[in-house]
Amino acid sequence: MDLLYRPRRLRTSDTLRKMVRETRVSKESLIYPLFVVDGKEIVEEIPSMEGQYRYSVDRLPQIMDQLINAGVVKVLLFGIPAHKDACGSQAYDEEGVVQRAIRFIREHYPMVYIVTDVCMCEYTSHGHCGILDGESVDNDKTLEYLNMIALSHVKAGAHMVAPSDMMDGRIGSMRQALDEAGFVNVPIMAYSAKYSSAFYGPFREAAGSAPAFGDRKSYQMDYHNRKEALKEVELDVAEGADIVMVKPALSYLDIIREVADRHDLPVAAYSVSGEYAMIKAASKAGFIEEEKIVCETAVSIYRAGADILITYYAIELARFMDEGK
Ligand code: PBG
Ligand code: ZN
Repeated sequence: MDLLYRPRRLRTSDTLRKMVRETRVSKESLIYPLFVVDGKEIVEEIPSMEGQYRYSVDRLPQIMDQLINAGVVKVLLFGIPAHKDACGSQAYDEEGVVQRAIRFIREHYPMVYIVTDVCMCEYTSHGHCGILDGESVDNDKTLEYLNMIALSHVKAGAHMVAPSDMMDGRIGSMRQALDEAGFVNVPIMAYSAKYSSAFYGPFREAAGSAPAFGDRKSYQMDYHNRKEALKEVELDVAEGADIVMVKPALSYLDIIREVADRHDLPVAAYSVSGEYAMIKAASKAGFIEEEKIVCETAVSIYRAGADILITYYAIELARFMDEGK
């Protein structure tokens, strides 16, 4: 056969295949989500997320050492407070669980880059991401609280804040609040295209943050929509976001691609709790090969255009990357 093009030619050896790879991954781009719980001597496994734990501040070294050994030096912190109330006051308390965790990590692990999730749902008694007015979340009032939360994180030493609430105007308002307090160099990673998703189920169990009534559809996005995601990203960029995020990741690869094509700032993708739980459960059952699926799904997210990957599999992925998998 007289074939001019033989695409298989470049697939003839592992060395050659690796040479012509289009997507190259690096553990520098990994962020590990970390749950910190109020209390002492606590390391509890999250039932729906085997292999993931909630740690009290004093037990953070257990996970921090693993992260550092793996070369994963970025964390995204979530707090689980002992007390919740209507206005989520533990979220902006100087002695709150996240604020203490930040100070602990800054003191003992100065090489670690700390990003904090800024939201209210883990802290409010009703479990919604903002301040309620009757049964609905009051957008503009919530902005004031989000600013207080972000400021308290940054004052405690957070390097970057990541608002995940999906209120309108939060990036502009937070940027202004940070700037006015002198934190002009603290970047904001905006959860810009955050969909209302059943993939957050295990997280809500982990954080005890499921809404007490209703759902989050009046602020998180409808997964039927694409243009709306682009609009949300555009607004966040215009308001001063430094990094934009698409969340969840696997069912939203089209959105990641489109955002990456249209914008010239870094794009983060959050492979959420339900994505982790699905892979973990199917692997445990022996139906899929965990390591291969973890690599393939992670690469698909990078291939879609993500520059940064937030994942519960960060430690394993860092190892796979080291091993050239
Ligand atoms: C808080 C927040 C959530 C997640 C990240 N930040 C939960 C939610 O919005 O219900 C989900 C993360 C995950 O599922 O891994 N707003
Ligand atoms: Zn929330």
